[in-house]
Amino acid sequence: MTQEEIPACVREYFRVTAQEMNRPGGYLGVCVKKNPVDLFVMQRLIHQTNPERVVETGTKYGGSALAWASVFELMGTEGKVITVDINPLPMPQHGFFQRRVECLVGDSVDHGIVREIAKRVEARRTMVILDSKHKTEHVYQEMCMYAPLVSEGCYMVVEDGIMRRGPYHAIERFLGETSDFVVDGAVEPRFTFNPKGYLRRVTGP
Ligand SMILES: C[S@@+](CC[C@H](N)C(=O)[O-])C[C@H]1O[C@@H](n2cnc3c(N)ncnc32)[C@H](O)[C@@H]1O
Repeated sequence: MTQEEIPACVREYFRVTAQEMNRPGGYLGVCVKKNPVDLFVMQRLIHQTNPERVVETGTKYGGSALAWASVFELMGTEGKVITVDINPLPMPQHGFFQRRVECLVGDSVDHGIVREIAKRVEARRTMVILDSKHKTEHVYQEMCMYAPLVSEGCYMVVEDGIMRRGPYHAIERFLGETSDFVVDGAVEPRFTFNPKGYLRRVTGP
């Protein structure tokens, strides 16, 4: 469902929940820039598919990286998060964040950054979450560069397709060119910020 198709009352619900998530103290004290329903679905995907690494583009305040790290912590696995942002900000000070999150600074589509991330996830079961610049061309480039890192049965989550002109078009273009990924409508919540954004890898890299 795109922005234009959403009923006014649901738009209001989105506005209020986004506002709530933007308040200081969002998740364990750190702001997370996400629809809480999508946050909930993503923790479920981590739990169900059990990746060893979550790669995230777009760190911002570290709130989402903190959330994925907390899921690994509670699952008791060796899971780690690798997150990249072009604008470094102060990061959460939680002990498990320090242990489980590796922060990189740079452009997510810089070849050197992608090479470095690929080295860090080599031979690891990996999930990818794309949440940096939401322009079509940038997201499309990210999808092409990060798709090879995603393990079979794991997800590449492309955020904020609700904006319609950005990630949504990138997803449509990407899916027109590959059969390695399918949109998993079964996991996508009805009121999501990420329409067609839960892509499951169905054939091995
Ligand atoms: C929506 S915020 C990320 C929110 C975070 N994932 C969360 O859920 O709390 C987007 C972030 O992408 C970063 N960004 C923008 N362009 C980028 C690029 N080319 N490469 C890497 N990060 C970028 C911005 O600096 C910003 O911090």
